[in-house]
Amino acid sequence: MNFSGTPQQLFWQGSPRDIVFDLEGIRNKLLQTDKACYVMKDFNGRIGLSNSGTLVSEGRGLQVLALANPMNAAQLGDPSFRKDYKLKYAYKTGAMANGIASANLVIALGKADLLASYGAAGQVPEKIAASIDKIQANLPHQTYAVNLIHSPSEPALEAAAVDLFLNKGVNVVEASAFLALTENIVYYRLAGLSRDAKNKIVIANKVIAKISRKEVAIPFMKAAPEEFVQSLLKKGKITRLQAELAKEVPMADDITVEADSGGHTDNRPLVALLPIIIQLRDEMQKQYAFESKIRIGAAGGISTPSSALAAFMMGAAYVVTGSINQACLEAGTSEHVRKLLQIVESTDVMAAPASDMFEMGVDLQVLKRGTLFGPRAKKLYQYYKNYQSIDEIPTADRKNLEEKIFRKPLEEIWKSCIEFFQQRDPQQIERATNNPRRKMALIFRWYLGLSSNWANAGTSDRVLDYQIWCGPSMGAFNDWVKGSHLEHYKNRKVADVAFQIMEGAAYLYRIQSLKMQGVDFPMELEKAELMENATMIL
Ligand SMILES: Cc1cc2nc3c(=O)[nH]c(=O)nc-3n(C[C@H](O)[C@H](O)[C@H](O)COP(=O)(O)O)c2cc1C
Repeated sequence: MNFSGTPQQLFWQGSPRDIVFDLEGIRNKLLQTDKACYVMKDFNGRIGLSNSGTLVSEGRGLQVLALANPMNAAQLGDPSFRKDYKLKYAYKTGAMANGIASANLVIALGKADLLASYGAAGQVPEKIAASIDKIQANLPHQTYAVNLIHSPSEPALEAAAVDLFLNKGVNVVEASAFLALTENIVYYRLAGLSRDAKNKIVIANKVIAKISRKEVAIPFMKAAPEEFVQSLLKKGKITRLQAELAKEVPMADDITVEADSGGHTDNRPLVALLPIIIQLRDEMQKQYAFESKIRIGAAGGISTPSSALAAFMMGAAYVVTGSINQACLEAGTSEHVRKLLQIVESTDVMAAPASDMFEMGVDLQVLKRGTLFGPRAKKLYQYYKNYQSIDEIPTADRKNLEEKIFRKPLEEIWKSCIEFFQQRDPQQIERATNNPRRKMALIFRWYLGLSSNWANAGTSDRVLDYQIWCGPSMGAFNDWVKGSHLEHYKNRKVADVAFQIMEGAAYLYRIQSLKMQGVDFPMELEKAELMENATMIL
């Protein structure tokens, strides 16, 4: 180690044997993040580090060059986030649709006292109900969340999901894809309001809203809109007291700012977006003065100790990971997908049309390497934009579509769509019957919808059509874990990954803190190495 800063006006007293100078000795002391670290020059002029001894401002002892306070992984983020959700770390995993964030994934993280959100999007209520039952049976005392996804093209599903969550006593939802509030989410929130014996407001139904734009964040930072409150009251869905209390609480407890991520994304950089939303929260808090302050978390691109630390240092109350959990053993996907994800670089991703918002032209971020889904889905969107119905598609193009992408005549696909939606949301078919462009959209959405099921199930004759949602964070993770036990997909477990990121972030905090005081570490120490036995500690 070298030193080029200004020494502290402090002196270290302790046993010289507790000062280490070698690489491994220094790393070990830095890793003990619940102890302070002191950097000193000994009488031989060597610069070393200790995490014992005492400091005095005058008298004998070695002059302290730099020091770092204790700072363990559990201290990162907002303590109230950990307390409210009963967590070990201010760390959360985001929902992954179609049960990719599976019941097993939620349970594994819950058992490690970490918060995970079940991937309810795209699933029928019976499947979601079965998963909730399983999670509740396995996590009787721990916190878990379930995704409440806004479904503009399938409003019946969103309403059914809320009814289910209320019936099952789901206490935390991760609300996402909302462009504006709906009566459904307002119902979920208000149905959980009451007063305790001391007249304090109790918010039983917690909302963690995920957003990537200011205008979407704002309604979650305000009280529920009056028109929804009155409508719910009229329908007898909430009580008069709940309607009154609605004015005193914001719609969300926590807001996750989602930057460039896997799946739906606005592709914003976290360094630009997070400060914007934190400032917005502060302004809104000043204006509305709700009793509890909304916490702001960070998602999108977080997959390494340094990215997690950066988010915390920018003021994130908690961090959220997504893509990297899909590559873990507990994720509800196929071995083929896990294997592919293991070798992904951060540039191996691209934008492709989203099935659930296809007609609106919304894209999501998918894996480019090892699959043709992205270019094929883009082609379908081009046809949708250029033609009014499938009959307008030029014959050669249609033949190509039917042979290469659909592997069936489009009219046959339409029959499958009718069958599918009759069970799930019959309105979809009614709306498309006399609307050939809507019919075309539903046919194209057949491919977009099934392609992620093929990936999850590992359907072997559809490998090139796999739709795998993935962000650049996956590549950063793969680079970081190279050479460690987490390099191989068979060793990737969600709780271990969480542990490594958070412990690594605490380690790096101290490295950066000492560096800024003038300590020059050997390069090897500047990387947060993984700990082999992390899962044993959890
Ligand atoms: C495979 C996959 C599926 C996802 N599905 C959903 C979803 O259904 N609902 C949701 O709110 N977010 C979903 N996301 C976003 C994640 O919850 C999380 O916010 C995001 O992945 C974080 O960014 P990262 O991918 O850079 O880690 C998904 C992400 C991935 C990778």
